Amino acid sequence: MLILVTGGAGFIGANFVIDWLENHDEPVINLDKLTYAGNRDSLASLANNSKHQLVVGDIGDRALLDTLLSQHRPRAIINFAAESHVDRSIHGPIDFINTNILGTFHLLEACRSYWQALPAAKKDTFRFLHVSTDEVYGSLEASDAAFTESNPFQPNSPYSASKAASDHLVRAWHHTYGLPVLTTNCSNNYGPLQFPEKLIPLVTANALAGKPLPIYGDGMNVRDWLYVGDHCSAIRRVLADGKLGETYNIGGWNEQPNIDIVHMICDLLDEMRPRVDGASYRQQITFVKDRPGHDRRYAIDARKIERELGWRPAETFASGIRKTISWYLEHQEWVERVTSGAYRQWIDTNYSERTSA
Ligand code: NAD
Ligand code: TYD
Repeated sequence: MLILVTGGAGFIGANFVIDWLENHDEPVINLDKLTYAGNRDSLASLANNSKHQLVVGDIGDRALLDTLLSQHRPRAIINFAAESHVDRSIHGPIDFINTNILGTFHLLEACRSYWQALPAAKKDTFRFLHVSTDEVYGSLEASDAAFTESNPFQPNSPYSASKAASDHLVRAWHHTYGLPVLTTNCSNNYGPLQFPEKLIPLVTANALAGKPLPIYGDGMNVRDWLYVGDHCSAIRRVLADGKLGETYNIGGWNEQPNIDIVHMICDLLDEMRPRVDGASYRQQITFVKDRPGHDRRYAIDARKIERELGWRPAETFASGIRKTISWYLEHQEWVERVTSGAYRQWIDTNYSERTSA
């Protein structure tokens, strides 16, 4: 018995694979295209682990999927593979349509024909777990209740629209074909191995490099932050005991405006790696032009997964952010290796148009 993970060289996928192999004996086949966001370095700790095999390939490649499925005969597929950065989706949505929508479609189809041919007992226990985001629900006002699983989908960015489309496909493959699916919709993750285009690792890297810390708009957009290890444990719970065809919201019960997050990062760096001039990293904060269509607030009501599966986050934000900043301080070479020439080009594209506000 083994599991097939897609996108397992990215931020959450790599954390999941490492976490899985620490908690289970079951091997992992890891299918990843190694886009700019996927890094072999993130899986370096598994280099000598015979239970992990990285296959470089695209979830949209049907022939490859058919071969992998018939060769390895996984008992579950966990789909992390996606284009995941909202700002990139604004500059170039096509990759989001191709991977998040078409890629998920091809994966579902390959999975369906594999699953239909399984013997009855294996057919019953097979699972397709689709990893998605809270961004499919749209944006909340300050006084709105947090997102529950029955909120309507109102995606606002090309990223969230493409993820919403993939969630709909997964739902339809269950209702129409009976494919045994589970879907999770999670809030913003943070932790080790996150690519430094996202807020927390970008601000950390810029602070250490003496660069401005760009805050979009007024810095009062709210996100519900969850430590990546907690996301991994929630996925394991849903995979083990989730009810077929159901969706589960996963969140940290931890809403914070962006400016507070950036202040916390600065304060931790002031303590752990003070600036040579003795000034605070807060001095590097710069308010810049807002993201078009910037969702104001996300908040997850994670009571269903707690009630039905007994899952709650284990990490507090105070401990999780401290661990995360320590990890980045100790893994500067990882940051340097993943921020190649292509990364610098992206930073120019995204930030050169955002003059200080
Ligand atoms: P990421 O961008 O760090 O990693 C994505 C991985 O998918 C990379 O390794 C990339 O190489 C791979 N990939 C991209 N296109 C592929 C393709 N066509 N075929 C195979 N592999 C491909 O993303 P992440 O932050 O780790 O997010 C993982 C999943 O979790 C995504 O589906 C995302 O929508 C979802 N999610 C992310 C967050 C978050 O805060 N990061 C929150 C909720 C849900
Ligand atoms: P991000 O990490 O891109 O996640 P998402 O947009 O999927 O929530 O951004 C988190 C928040 O931080 C979001 O409100 C946008 C904001 N942000 C900045 O203010 N500056 C930045 O340079 C980045 C990348 C994000």
